Amino acid sequence: MNVLVVGNGGREHALAWKLGQSPMVDRVFVAPGNAGTALDAENIAIPVTDFARLIRFAREQSVGLTVVGPELPLTEGIVDAFQQAKLRVFGPTRAAAQLEGSKVFCKRLLHNADVPTADHQVFRDAESASRFIADRYLDDHQSCPVVVKADGLAAGKGVFVCSNRIQALESIDRIARQREFGDAGKELIIEERLDGQEASVLAITDGRTILPLPPAQDHKPAHDGDRGPNTGGMGAYVPTPLVSATMMHWIEEHILVPTVHSMKRMRFPFQGVLYAGLMVTHQGPKVLEYNVRFGDPECQPLLMRLKSDLAELLLATIEGRLDELPPLEWDPRPSVCVVMASEGYPGSYQKGFPIRGLEEAAQIPDVKVFHAGTRLQQDQVLTEGGRVLAVTALGSSISAAKLQAYTAVKCIRWPGAWCRKDISDKALSGSR
Ligand code: AMP
Ligand code: GLY
Repeated sequence: MNVLVVGNGGREHALAWKLGQSPMVDRVFVAPGNAGTALDAENIAIPVTDFARLIRFAREQSVGLTVVGPELPLTEGIVDAFQQAKLRVFGPTRAAAQLEGSKVFCKRLLHNADVPTADHQVFRDAESASRFIADRYLDDHQSCPVVVKADGLAAGKGVFVCSNRIQALESIDRIARQREFGDAGKELIIEERLDGQEASVLAITDGRTILPLPPAQDHKPAHDGDRGPNTGGMGAYVPTPLVSATMMHWIEEHILVPTVHSMKRMRFPFQGVLYAGLMVTHQGPKVLEYNVRFGDPECQPLLMRLKSDLAELLLATIEGRLDELPPLEWDPRPSVCVVMASEGYPGSYQKGFPIRGLEEAAQIPDVKVFHAGTRLQQDQVLTEGGRVLAVTALGSSISAAKLQAYTAVKCIRWPGAWCRKDISDKALSGSR
């Protein structure tokens, strides 16, 4: 069988690499891919939202399985388009992908399903939202622990965690008056700010059976100690001790199962990866958001540990027979992924620097360097994005995996390359 992976990040490189290991798989294509997928698979220059060309390519190359990485094509209906073309595709339909595409939809569903989440209010205009804040928080400097969110997709930038009234009013202004995020700001949410540590719990579901994957922890702020601006994710590790086996069962019973059932009841049956972004609070885990795809970078350390056949798992999901699969097999060793980024990211940055030391890094045992923002020019790998590489390692303990990942990071260089130095330390300190 030939497979097609849609996307061009570290997540898609990991998917292509893992799918390529399946005895069922002949050729792996990635659209549009990066330098890493060019080496481990075959790139095809089709943008992720050009469904007609992707479908034509899938037909021409007898692609038996298409796996969609990023949220944008999912919320735009790539799965519906492939299904109409009678092609097998892994991911939720456009209707089900609203769970990520609309925070208002997500909150309504969480409420209907009685899933724990932050209390919230929905607003359709800046005036009523500002009045809500002004009426409740009288003094500019009084504590105002709220989070203001644009309803739609805003590349992770439409969420403002506020401490005082000035920040809250400013966020409302940016989302709803200045429309910094365009139509994503047609509606906005103001919710209570939760305290605790964040965890990512991903599960594969065919709409009936739910297979939770080991709990992961992302590192969204740019700098060590969770300081600095938010990014797409500067590193992740699996499993996180923040989520115990008992808590995992609780999450399955009180969060994942009611969500999947509720999606079915609302006639949006969910198939694909259900990714719960959780805050582990003193009252237990609460849902911050749902994503409808593998996390990036969580996917990289997860797939590094997966021993089962990914192609078989994804096909079983599409065909609604997850209940027939044997339990997933995992490498018992933890895995740590460190993202190397361009100077200036998450702000503006320069591209086109040659990356050195990749061969050296590849020699380090139990390490895989997944590419994210890279491009191949002749035989040279160049930087092409903000998050450039996702250096992922296995180790006998989390600290051993961390050491191994950073040993590989040290081999790799280009002008301005940087990374966080503390990926997975939250697991080691046991801090919450
Ligand atoms: P979201 O896209 O909704 O996950 O929000 C992005 C980030 O904002 C999360 O990963 C959290 O760090 C933070 N965040 C979102 N909602 C809340 C909340 N209710 N309380 C505290 N932090 C939040
Ligand atoms: N790791 C965050 C995300 O994939 O959205």
